[in-house]
Amino acid sequence: MAVKILAENIWKTFQTAGGPIDAIKNFNLSVEEGKFVSIVGPSGCGKSTFLRILAGLVPATSGNLKIFPGKDLTKPLNSVVFQEYAIFPWRTVLDNVSFGPEMRGVGKKERRELALHWIDAVGLNKFIDCYPHQLSGGMKQRVSIARALANDPEVLLMDEPLGALDAQTRNVLQEELLKLWEATHKTVIYITHSIEEAVLLSDEVVLMTSHPGTNKINFDINIPRPRDLKITGTPEFARLTLVIWEVLRDEVIAAMEDQR
Ligand SMILES: Nc1ncnc2c1ncn2[C@@H]1O[C@H](COP(=O)(O)OP(=O)(O)OP(=O)(O)O)[C@@H](O)[C@H]1O
Ligand SMILES: [Mg+2]
Repeated sequence: MAVKILAENIWKTFQTAGGPIDAIKNFNLSVEEGKFVSIVGPSGCGKSTFLRILAGLVPATSGNLKIFPGKDLTKPLNSVVFQEYAIFPWRTVLDNVSFGPEMRGVGKKERRELALHWIDAVGLNKFIDCYPHQLSGGMKQRVSIARALANDPEVLLMDEPLGALDAQTRNVLQEELLKLWEATHKTVIYITHSIEEAVLLSDEVVLMTSHPGTNKINFDINIPRPRDLKITGTPEFARLTLVIWEVLRDEVIAAMEDQR
């Protein structure tokens, strides 16, 4: 399988009033085309910073970033789904989802069709004319996901997209993400604090060390697809989540010590 994203030796230092802060040091990531890769690591280890670098929102201090085929990552990967509902409160669901195509100059009829397709894919047909304040948290996050997909991104970047949701809504959206991934086979880089979520959704889980984050260890998740929530009851799922937690625990404790 072809490599889609290659990040080599990424460092990020923020200059702050209290002096420089290393957020990421010597981080490496290679993601194959069409793979779903999760990044897991303790709070403050630099996960969001790395995603922002990938999205072109902040520059890396040093290191190489490539998106294939053959391009340097110089233009933003316009496809981020954040934990906060990053949708426009003054636009309806339809207008939020058609925003990306509109910016790209796609004609009115075509962008409406595109938006309706993705709104249907996330199950919000009945809400196309609603404004964000009329929607639940889960629905708002569905709008964010539909909006990202309507951009037909080369890579979908997701920073704890389900982090603000209650457990049941989260489970429903996890299954929806599995279905969307089956339908699109997009390359996805997904940040989560939940090991269970990472194992459920991913082909690979990349574990980062505590701050400043670097690579700890990567885990291949060879649970067959298509998957649904039922796999969370299997012995292999339990084994993987436990193995990952045993490594992550040390990093979480290190991060907590660091914050004292
Ligand atoms: N704009 C900034 N200026 C200065 N320091 C920053 C900035 N953004 C992030 N940092 C620092 O970089 C480190 C990594 O932050 P980041 O938000 O990437 O962590 P994270 O892994 O996403 O954490 P969490 O799991 O809590 O979301 C932290 O120490 C943070 O304080
Ligand atoms: Mg973060």
